[in-house]
Amino acid sequence: MAVEQEIVLTVRNLSKLYGPGCPDCLSLTGPEAGTNICPRCHTIVACNGVSFELESGEILGIVGESGSGKSTLVRCLYFDEDATSGECCFSAFGDGRANAFAQTSQARRYIRNHLLGIVYQNPLMGIKPHFTAGGNVAEKLLTADVYNVSAIRQRAAALLERTEVPLARMDDFPAHFSGGMQQRVQIAKALANNPPVLLLDEVTTGLDVSVQARVLDLIKEIQQDLGIAMLVVSHDLGVIRILADRTAVMQHGQVLEFGLTDQILEDPQHRYTQLLVHSTL
Ligand SMILES: Nc1ncnc2c1ncn2[C@@H]1O[C@H](COP(=O)(O)OP(=O)(O)O)[C@@H](O)[C@H]1O
Ligand SMILES: [Mg+2]
Ligand SMILES: [Zn+2]
Repeated sequence: MAVEQEIVLTVRNLSKLYGPGCPDCLSLTGPEAGTNICPRCHTIVACNGVSFELESGEILGIVGESGSGKSTLVRCLYFDEDATSGECCFSAFGDGRANAFAQTSQARRYIRNHLLGIVYQNPLMGIKPHFTAGGNVAEKLLTADVYNVSAIRQRAAALLERTEVPLARMDDFPAHFSGGMQQRVQIAKALANNPPVLLLDEVTTGLDVSVQARVLDLIKEIQQDLGIAMLVVSHDLGVIRILADRTAVMQHGQVLEFGLTDQILEDPQHRYTQLLVHSTL
């Protein structure tokens, strides 16, 4: 029996240009052109007409080589950067039809604080090293309008426990933590507002292999326990293979191929994806 999946996030035609832009930027860049730099005006087209839908509770993978536009996509969705064009709709905002990119900064802040969590590659982008571990989680709770001190403390402790940060370290400063432990604190913080959508950008890149495996397990467990929809971005097909139900392959700012992860791994359609798959076997 097919179950109708709720769409929690819809992205349509998202483009992000760095540079002055000209009428030909989008058509003269991309996989076919073999570049993300417009030959006419030298604008960098970091994202070029990216579209996808994220279903509730699924993990959607975005894979592609360095410079393909993955981080830019995530930064636009978290409003760290302004998308140049395109639409982004959250089911939990404005009947699911309002374009988040076109909202006031106040409304975007609401979306970011209540509907989104983000985990950056560099833990120190997401957490403050000189706030305690608990304080970092508390900060996100405050932005999500949880003000009761004992409620904050309890919830922070529960989240840190969930991400396997020893409670004895709750009042310690992440500056002194290992990379893996910092990443766990960042994940706890990202989950604090119980977001329907979690964005994860190269979360295990730079961690030791054994630590990497444990963090990937943790992410999978959290997704299964909490049913949060996740956008998992990685240059590493191994990470995508472990986590993602469906995968989009990006190159030069565009989505080249999109489908079930198993299908993409077993029967890649594009030459680029074939190379990517074979290079990781
Ligand atoms: N702030 C910026 N200014 C100019 N170019 C940028 C900026 N951020 C990213 N880029 C360029 O956008 C393209 C996509 O980068 P990025 O999204 O970081 O790719 P990925 O995460 O896939 O490695 C690259 O060509 C990169 O150099
Ligand atoms: Mg990146
Ligand atoms: Zn141009």
